[in-house]
Amino acid sequence: MEVIKSTEEIKSINFDSPFALVPTMGNLHKGHLSLVKYGIENYSEVITSIFINPLQFGKNEDFSSYPKTISQDIQLLESLGCNYLFIPEKNFAENLNIIEPKFSDVLCGLSRPTHFQGVLTIIDKFLRIIKPNACLFGLKDYQQQLIIKEFVKRKKIKTDIISLPIVREKFGLAMSSRNNYLSDEDKKFCGKIYSCIKKLAASLKTTSLEVLKSEAKDFLQNAGFEIDYLEIVDANNLSSVSKNTDKVLIATAVIYKKVRLIDNIVVSL
Ligand code: PAF
Repeated sequence: MEVIKSTEEIKSINFDSPFALVPTMGNLHKGHLSLVKYGIENYSEVITSIFINPLQFGKNEDFSSYPKTISQDIQLLESLGCNYLFIPEKNFAENLNIIEPKFSDVLCGLSRPTHFQGVLTIIDKFLRIIKPNACLFGLKDYQQQLIIKEFVKRKKIKTDIISLPIVREKFGLAMSSRNNYLSDEDKKFCGKIYSCIKKLAASLKTTSLEVLKSEAKDFLQNAGFEIDYLEIVDANNLSSVSKNTDKVLIATAVIYKKVRLIDNIVVSL
């Protein structure tokens, strides 16, 4: 695998087409690796990027302590057969025009008001300089991939945005770099988040949404989670569920031992 540390250099490479980009912030886990594997199986070449993007962190968030495991990440990517690793310069996020996303005023956007601007601004830069045929994202960050898909479509950018299934820990907790802040016992306990939204999904057609939301929140709160949100919305545009909704998103963000954890399920009606 070739490791590239300059924007000028990445711009000058003639990748074998079609090629895919997997943007990450490093500290790779099985969720990221499933994206890289998909890229390897479906495209001629795969570029993974590792950049802890300062633009997407709020003032009191974990930018400076975000886990960094670069040599382990390189080993994992090499063992999978990733072709390139791009580690941009420190100033990669400087002097960019901030892009305003759609769908960012709900769910995670309420408690992280500048997060999706930061994500979209950096992804736009990656897409402009690398011009991949496809860019791969995990569905754990459902709102993120929806925002990026909408932007790419609106701006007629010629990159397919591919969203791939959530990968979970043994007891159901969605894989995330932030799970590293938790012990094995905590991770097992946090499997309750997924069992709760799964149970909610199973009752979707028989019980009112308000009752389901309130029961699920009570359950999580009583178990010891602090709830940021638990919502049931139209999965196509994150608006309220209506007669025309054909698939719903059940999404939640909770805080456990100061760690913010998100999860979701999409259900077709
Ligand atoms: O999902 C992430 O890890 C980040 O938001 C991304 C897409 C790499 C942008 O910095």
